[in-house]
Amino acid sequence: MNAPAPWKRPDPLPGPVVTERTVVRWWEPSDAEGLHVAVAEDREALLPWLPWAAKEHASVDESAQIINRFTRDRNFPESLDFVMGIFEREGGEVIGGTGIHRIIPEDLTGEIGYWVRGSRQRQGYCTEAVAALITAGFDAWGFRRIKICCSNLNKGSVGVLENLGLRFEGEEREARWLPGVGWDNHRTYAVLADEWDREAERVRGS
Ligand SMILES: CC(C)(COP(=O)(O)OP(=O)(O)OC[C@H]1O[C@@H](n2cnc3c(N)ncnc32)[C@H](O)[C@@H]1OP(=O)(O)O)[C@@H](O)C(=O)NCCC(=O)NCCS
Repeated sequence: MNAPAPWKRPDPLPGPVVTERTVVRWWEPSDAEGLHVAVAEDREALLPWLPWAAKEHASVDESAQIINRFTRDRNFPESLDFVMGIFEREGGEVIGGTGIHRIIPEDLTGEIGYWVRGSRQRQGYCTEAVAALITAGFDAWGFRRIKICCSNLNKGSVGVLENLGLRFEGEEREARWLPGVGWDNHRTYAVLADEWDREAERVRGS
């Protein structure tokens, strides 16, 4: 069997992903205050799963610097890391963050990560936005496989993955140290392009 052509970043990069209630798009400099508030108003809601949430975004200025870094990383031609925000479609408030990370071009694989601010959790926003981002990941970004990893103890994240029907592929035991948790078991879920139902926005038959 011939090796597939490796993944190449689309040029131009795909545009925003729009769902019924959300828009997933690049962070802009003008989002700095919204990003700072979304994280700082309830850090506990993001912990212990995202250790950066304990300290980062301490000020609007720091959030502006972080957005600059996201932009710089994205514009680097060899970038394998694309950070995005999740915004309310009506009104534009920051709902959370997501992105496509740890791309392996030879394997046409990308990994999606996500968070939703405390005041917007458990309202279906993550499921809605990530479902649409997976569709874009296959159809606009050109991946063949998308994976999402989370702790076995992270009920919110496991809930999202069960909603989307992603396949549980296994668990690496004590794979990382999480402050407040200890040695954490790290799960991998994934979906292949040909098993993703674009209409239903979930894994076919799940
Ligand atoms: C994980 C996270 C992004 C989920 O976002 P969300 O918008 O609240 O998720 P959804 O509302 O789409 O919920 C998905 C499912 O999980 C369930 N769920 C969400 N949070 C839950 C919790 N804390 N405990 C139990 N179930 C939960 C929901 O009830 C829902 O199931 P349902 O559709 O059957 O009702 C959010 O909880 C978060 O930001 N957590 C902290 C950061 C984090 O863990 N990021 C992921 C790292 S892998």
